[in-house]
Amino acid sequence: MQKPFHDLFQKYDVPGPRYTSYPTVPSWGNDPLEQNQWFQSLETSIEQKNSDGFGIYIHIPFCQKLCLYCGCHKIIRKNDSWNKRYIEALLSEWKMYKSQISHWPELIELHLGGGTPTFFSPEELKSLILPILEEISLSKNFDFSFEADPRVTSQEHLQVLFDLGFRRLSLGVQDFDPLVQKTISREQSFDQVRELTEFARKIGYKSINHDLIYGLPKQTPKSIQSTIQQIRQLKPDRIAFYSYAYVPQVAKQQRVFKLEDIPQGGDKRQLFELGRELLLAEGYDELGMDHFSLPTDDLSKAHREKTLHRNFMGYVPYHVNPLIGLGASSIGDSGSAYSQNEKDIKTYMDKIESKELPLFRGYQLSQKDRIIKERILELMTQFQLTYEDEFKNIEEFDSIKKNFKNFSEDGLLEFTENGFELTDIGKCFARNVAMSLDIRLPKKTSTPVFSRSI
Ligand SMILES: C[S@@+](CC[C@H](N)C(=O)[O-])C[C@H]1O[C@@H](n2cnc3c(N)ncnc32)[C@H](O)[C@@H]1O
Ligand code: SF4
Repeated sequence: MQKPFHDLFQKYDVPGPRYTSYPTVPSWGNDPLEQNQWFQSLETSIEQKNSDGFGIYIHIPFCQKLCLYCGCHKIIRKNDSWNKRYIEALLSEWKMYKSQISHWPELIELHLGGGTPTFFSPEELKSLILPILEEISLSKNFDFSFEADPRVTSQEHLQVLFDLGFRRLSLGVQDFDPLVQKTISREQSFDQVRELTEFARKIGYKSINHDLIYGLPKQTPKSIQSTIQQIRQLKPDRIAFYSYAYVPQVAKQQRVFKLEDIPQGGDKRQLFELGRELLLAEGYDELGMDHFSLPTDDLSKAHREKTLHRNFMGYVPYHVNPLIGLGASSIGDSGSAYSQNEKDIKTYMDKIESKELPLFRGYQLSQKDRIIKERILELMTQFQLTYEDEFKNIEEFDSIKKNFKNFSEDGLLEFTENGFELTDIGKCFARNVAMSLDIRLPKKTSTPVFSRSI
C-alpha cells in the first residue's frame, strides 16, 4: 500500500550518491592506477569497439567570483595570469594520451566544464581547442558542448565556439528571484540569459540547456513558479533541475547560510514537484534524475528509444567509450577502470610540466562491479531494472532482492515479469533504490560526502 508522502521523505531523505559512476568516487580508495595500467585499459576499451566513439572532458576550474551555493571544483581568480600555463598543461596532457594510444576511434563528445570555461577569452579557447582537434577524426554525430556563466559569456565566445564546431551550450541560471540571487551571491538578470539564449539560437546552436536548482536558501513555491514562468519565455531545449546539494563539510562557504532559510525534506520536495509539474505542462519530457528536455531534442528521442546513457557529464544520447578527462580533478572512464587527476591546480600543472601523467586516484572494476554498474545505469536512465542472468548470479542477489521487496511495500516500485519498474513516486527515490544495489557504498563517516537524496 502507498505510504503517505511525509513518511516516505522521513524514511528516505538520507545522504546518497547521484550515480554518475559506479562504484562512486568515495569508494575507490586513495591510490592512483599505474600509468601503464591506465593506458592499457584505454587500449583494451578501444579494441572492443563497443561504443559510438570516444569523448574528451576538459575541466576549466577558474571563476571570477564565488557563488555561495556552489559545490563544483573551482578556484576563484581575480586575473588571467594562470590561463596560459593551464592551457599549455592541458595540451601537454592531451599529447601524452595521443602518443600512447595507437588507434583512436572517432571523437563523438567534447565537453568543456568547470568552474567556468568562458573565464578564458575566445582567443584562449581557440588556442586550446584547435590543437586538440588536429589529426582526430570526428564522428558524423559529433557533439561539442560547454558550460557558460551568463555573467561572463559574450556573444564573441558563442561565435568563436560555434565556429570550432560547438552546437550545444548550458547556461547556469539557477534562479531568477532577486532575494534568492542575493542570498546565494549570484546576481544576474533575465535579460542577460535571454540575450545569450536568443543569440545562440540565431547563429545556429542546436540545443540550449538551462541549469536550475531547487532547494536553494530563501526559495519558495512562489519563487520557483516565477522562475519557471520566465524560463517558459525562452523555451530551452533542455533543463537540468538540480537538487541543491548542501554539503557544508566539503563546500565550506555554504556554512554562511542560515539553516532555517534552506528548504528541507517535504518542503524541498514540494519545490521539485511544483517545478516538475510546470515543466511537464510546458511539454517537457522527464528523462531521469533531475533532467527534462523538449520532445524534439536528441535526449528525448534517445529516452523514447531506450538508448539513453549517463556518464560523468550527465545524460547523453549515445555511448561514449573511453572518456578522457583533461585538467585538474577531471575523471576518465575506460569502461573497466576510472582515473581521476590531481585536484590541486598547482600540483596538476607541476606534474604535467615534469612530464608525468597527473593521476591522483583510480579504480579497476571487477566483473561484479560491471554487472551492477549496468543495472544502476538502467535504473537511472529508464527507471526500471531487469533481472539479467549475470545479475541474478551474483552472490548478493538474494539480499539485494529483499530490499526491492521493501521498496515495493512502500509503493516505490512494481514488479514485472523479469524485474521491476519504478512508480511515479518511486522515481523521486531512484537514488535510494540504486543505493540498495551498491555493495561498495562507504559506511557512514563523520563527514558526509554525499548530498541528501531528496
Ligand atoms: C560548473 S557549474 C556551471 C558553469 C558556470 N560556472 C555557472 O555557474 O554558470 C555547473 C552547474 O552545477 C550546478 N551546481 C553548482 N553547485 C551546486 C550545488 N551545490 N547543488 C546543486 N547544483 C549545483 C549549477 O546548476 C551550475 O550551473
Ligand atoms: S556556480 Fe559556477 S560560477 Fe559560481 S562558483 Fe560555481 S562554478 Fe563558479
